[in-house]
Amino acid sequence: MPDRPLSSAEMKRMAAVEALMHIHDGCQLGLGSGSTAEIFVEELAKKVAQGLSVRCCSTSERTAALARSHGIEVLPLESFNLLDVTVDGADEIDPRLNLIKGGGACHLREKVVASYSERLVIIADESKLVKQLGAFRIPLEVIPFSLPAVLRSVAAIRGNLACEQRLADGEAVMTDEGNLVLDADFGLISDPALLAAQLGAVPGIVEHGLFVGMAEVAYVGCQSGLRILKPQP
Ligand code: 5RP
Repeated sequence: MPDRPLSSAEMKRMAAVEALMHIHDGCQLGLGSGSTAEIFVEELAKKVAQGLSVRCCSTSERTAALARSHGIEVLPLESFNLLDVTVDGADEIDPRLNLIKGGGACHLREKVVASYSERLVIIADESKLVKQLGAFRIPLEVIPFSLPAVLRSVAAIRGNLACEQRLADGEAVMTDEGNLVLDADFGLISDPALLAAQLGAVPGIVEHGLFVGMAEVAYVGCQSGLRILKPQP
């Protein structure tokens, strides 16, 4: 161990390197999005350069471009019957491995790709671990036409504290699918499955960032070393 605190990037890399153990020759792999997933792509690229053969589906145009720049094959989802594994980051991870995702506005494709995979492996640094989800606002991908209706419907869900459209430099954030992103604050969430069902029932929300019961394992880089987390009952 170094005699200084590890940086966030070093903890993310610790997790990303560990996730490589799920990757075998011929693997059909879902690539996540965000800074941790990008570190995983860098580590995967080293293995590909050494001769590992993988076929990947990406959860974002950005990750696809990064992977291709490293010589990693990236194909559309329709090229696969099923993916062996998806490796992705998260914004929050609770002890049951329920997640909040979508900080990078990619949670729609991330959920589609994860659900098309035999297993979802999460990689993160320790800042993402929480006892209860909800300090990070829940990202909602919304079709532009539905914006006022969704704002009204989300405000009517019990426990909603706020819901705002995500902007960057004053401009609406758009997803790779051409949709808008809202961020909904429900405070600490006592029943993620219930809230997921409520958000999933709002017409105009294409997908929300609650991932309930989807992750099989999380590798978390910590100051004290790597933690391997399985869902707690
Ligand atoms: C993108 C995501 C990311 O996985 C999440 O935001 C974590 O990102 P990072 O690894 O940069 O902390 O859900 O939509």
